[in-house]
Formats: sequence, C-alpha cells, structure tokens
Amino acid sequence: MNTQHVLLDVHLTDRDAEAALRADALAGLTATPKHLPPKWFYDARGSELFEQITALPEYYPTRTEAALLARSVDEIAAASGADTLVELGSGSSAKTRLLLDAFARAGTLRRYVPQDVSEAALRGALDVLAAEYPGLLLHGVVGDFTTDLDKLPRGERRMVAFLGGTIGNLLPTERHAFLTQLRSVLSPGEQLLLGTGLVVDESVVVPAYDDAAGVTAEFNRNVLHVLNRELDADFDVDAFAHRALWDADNEWIEMRLVAQRAMDVRVGELDLDVPFAVGEELRTEVSAKFRPLGVRSMLDAAGFDPVQMWTDPDERFALTLAAAR
Ligand code: SAH
Ligand code: TRP
Repeated sequence: MNTQHVLLDVHLTDRDAEAALRADALAGLTATPKHLPPKWFYDARGSELFEQITALPEYYPTRTEAALLARSVDEIAAASGADTLVELGSGSSAKTRLLLDAFARAGTLRRYVPQDVSEAALRGALDVLAAEYPGLLLHGVVGDFTTDLDKLPRGERRMVAFLGGTIGNLLPTERHAFLTQLRSVLSPGEQLLLGTGLVVDESVVVPAYDDAAGVTAEFNRNVLHVLNRELDADFDVDAFAHRALWDADNEWIEMRLVAQRAMDVRVGELDLDVPFAVGEELRTEVSAKFRPLGVRSMLDAAGFDPVQMWTDPDERFALTLAAAR
C-alpha cells in the first residue's frame, strides 16, 4: 500500500495514558459513589466491542445517524466548503465515509484528520482509508479531546465532526468546557458538525444500552480488564453485573457495574485496597440525550451559531451544523 499521504501524531503516549489512568482510578475508586471516566473503555478490545455494539438490533443510534448522514451529506458538504475535515472520537471512521464521499463530490476537501484516544482504532481506520481514498491527505491524531484540542493541525477552513452522540458522554459542565475549548481553537466561520442522541422513550433507550446478547455488558466490564492489566488490579470481572438505567431528571442513561458479592479489590500499582459491598455500584458512563432546543442553546452558550439541524423521522437523533462566531 502507498501510505505517503498518511501521517500519525501521537499526543498521548502509553506513559501519559498510564499516568492519567492512575490518577482517574485513584480519584474514582476512592470516591462515594465510585466512578470511572468512560475513555478507559477503549483499549483495542473495547474499540472492537463498541464496533459490535453499533451493529446490534437494539442499538439504534449508529444506524439512525448513518441514515441521517446519508440523506444530508450533500447539503452539509455544500454548506461547508471545508478543506479539512477533523473528526473527534473518530473510532473506526465508518460513518465518516459518507461525509468523505460527499466532500469528494463537492471537490473542496484535501485532508481528513481523525482524532481518537484509541491508537488501535485509529491505526485500523487509517489503514482502510489510505487504500480507499488515495487522493486524500490523512493525518491521524492520537489524543484526548478533553485536553488536546490545541494540538489539532491548523487549516484554512476546517469542519470538526463530533458524531455518535459522544458529546453526551460528557457531564454538563465538562460538555460546556469542551465546547468552549473547541470554539477557542477555531477561527470565526470554521464549523462544527455535531451528532446528538435525542430524548426517546425509555423502552427504546434502555435496551440500546442493555442488549439481549450481552455485548454492552461485556463492553462495560472491559474497563475492569483494563484496570487489571494496566494497574495490576485483581478485579474478579465476572463478579460485576452490567446495569443501564434511565435518569429522567437529567435525561441521560447511566451505565453501572454492580458488585455481586462483597469483595476487596487490590490495585497493585496504586498500592490501594478497594472494598466493595454486595450490591455496590461503580458508575462508568452517562450518555445524555438532548432536545433540539437544548442542542441549540448549548452551542450558542459556547460561541457557536447553529446553522442547520437535521433529524430523522422518529426524532431519535440530530445532526447540527454550527459556525464558530
Ligand atoms: N465516532 C464513532 C465512535 C463513537 S464511540 C461513532 O460515531 O461510531 C466513542 C469514541 O470516542 C471511541 O472511538 C473512543 O475511543 C473515543 N473517545 C472516548 N473518549 C475520548 C477522549 N476523551 N478523547 C478522544 N477520544 C475519545
Ligand atoms: N458514545 C456511545 C453512546 O453513548 C458509547 C456507548 C454505547 C456506550 N454503548 C455504550 C458506553 C455502553 C458505555 C456502555 O451511545
């Protein structure tokens, strides 16, 4: 394969990641209630499990957003005129192909910059894209979108895509900090294409995060395997049950791991013993769902002007194009 048009920046080395994981694990496992940040799900195995989630019958977000993109990409590319498409939390870049193809038809795009915390997922995506898009410059960035936005490559006219509803995995204050930071690294007129899950009936959203085949449960428990491997912990992974519950006040789904028996977990690298009571829960992730008005005001509050919004016929997902003021 000719990969002369492929670059990879690594802003998050294994050492940085390990230091960050130690700090997050120490803070989260000694807190009440216990919690862990979601980015630690995504080692190579976690990224692979997430790909399996996107194909589950219950997990509507990916196929809904893909259908929405398929319908709106030509309008998006025409409204954009971007020379660079940056994508945050790009994962396998599967849906992004729809955008890349539309930009190819519009003829403006020179470069695609996928950014992800998972080096394995990013390398996998770049390999495939390098073969499929020989005329496009590919510039992968391994980094954390909550801390490394200032290290994104500059461009004449960039569009930043943030798809999959991943913004909902940030808590409200983190979300605002993220969007404000993103706004500050963009020039006026540069764009954001934001994918957000919308508030849907509990009977639809809960199964999406608690599938019958148990893939989501395995994905959730994967974070314990990461701690065992990276921090020399001894979590008995099978002694934790997956739980997904809809929080109607906050309008988010919350993922937890529930200890099935009392146990003491040793985290060797932190020289820490972590007691779990039977039934005690470790919070691993929220996935907030939005209302169209909430999306607009969240963008406006961070210095973005909403330009256009697309939703699917069942109003389960929204794509919003916004411009930095
Ligand atoms: N955009 C893809 C993947 C969504 S899953 C889609 O829509 O299907 C969330 C992705 O964000 C994963 O690939 C994960 O590795 C990445 N991610 C999670 N937290 C991150 C962080 N703090 N910084 C950068 N990437 C992150
Ligand atoms: N960004 C995805 C979402 O919120 C991530 C995700 C899907 C997820 N299923 C999950 C995270 C289950 C934790 C557990 O939809």
